[in-house]
Amino acid sequence: MTKAIAFTEFGTPDVLHTLDVDLPEPGAGQVRIAVRAAGVNPVDSKIRSGAMQQVFPTPFPHVPGVEASGVVEAVGSGVTGFAVGDEVFGQTVTGAYAEQALAPADRLAPKPDSLDWAAAAALPVATETTYRALEPLALRPGETLLVHGAAGGVGTVAVQFAVARGVKVIGTASDANHERLRALGAVPVRYGDGLVERVRALAPDGVDAAFDLSGQPQALADSVELTGGSERVITVANAVAAKEAGIAFTGGGESDRSRPAFEEALALLAAGKLHLAVHRAYPLAEAADAQRESETGHATGKIVLTV
Ligand SMILES: NC(=O)c1ccc[n+]([C@@H]2O[C@H](COP(=O)([O-])OP(=O)(O)OC[C@H]3O[C@@H](n4cnc5c(N)ncnc54)[C@H](OP(=O)(O)O)[C@@H]3O)[C@@H](O)[C@H]2O)c1
Repeated sequence: MTKAIAFTEFGTPDVLHTLDVDLPEPGAGQVRIAVRAAGVNPVDSKIRSGAMQQVFPTPFPHVPGVEASGVVEAVGSGVTGFAVGDEVFGQTVTGAYAEQALAPADRLAPKPDSLDWAAAAALPVATETTYRALEPLALRPGETLLVHGAAGGVGTVAVQFAVARGVKVIGTASDANHERLRALGAVPVRYGDGLVERVRALAPDGVDAAFDLSGQPQALADSVELTGGSERVITVANAVAAKEAGIAFTGGGESDRSRPAFEEALALLAAGKLHLAVHRAYPLAEAADAQRESETGHATGKIVLTV
């Protein structure tokens, strides 16, 4: 058996509790990792609340968590490139809020020594999502990208990926996060009413593309107006609003972009061009508090659980 945080009914963070679950055995192409840290993502709360039952059918008990860092402790058939004892980070197929979790080997990468466990657990979803969303935007050096929700877990990585590609980034955030965005190489701007005028003042030559992490319908409408069309606007945060605005939504699912995303992240880390912001690390047993803080929607960087 292994210890995990689980829920057996939908509800508030109060439904999360510690549970002994069967030790997962790695299938073909999978490894089992002893989890050292797990990322907390907004989707974890959305699934726990029951709001995503249509998209993610959730049998009980359910262990949340889709990303982790840790040490490989068992390897399934057909796995090459990873061995017992390797320090890794990546996306998991069993809940990462646990002492042990399974991960597909093709969604793992070696953890660089420069990253501690918490920072490594903050990396997989943010980098894979960024890579997957920026790919169709086909940004070229010198272009201008607007990022809505630029100071959050995904946004901080999106800013840095785009800046490293030679793109000028304008990022929306509340005032308290403007200095942080400047330090990452973005031009900060306050979100909300009047955004179009504020962005035009900062980008007199126009905005070429927009990446939305806010899920706000107005942010999508503003993006279409600023870029002059729907072609180079994408959101990962609101599929319904995306459809209504006629812009692209990417949800991940069976995405195969983990490997190139992690390679880009590792190269940027080695070059000193990617800094991972861990907002706060909670012990695994305090997962409910971690989700409560995630649900405020104002974390500066990533919330993680340490095991
Ligand atoms: N589809 C996918 O594959 C995928 C993958 C990952 C994440 N997501 C989604 O993407 C969203 C962001 O994820 P995350 O992990 O980055 O969340 P997060 O860490 O909680 O960050 C949310 C950010 O949104 C900003 N924000 C809050 N209200 C806003 C508003 N009205 N307008 C603009 N920005 C606002 C906050 O900025 P301030 O604190 O400065 O106010 C905060 O930095 C979530 O909805 C998540 O579910 C989707």
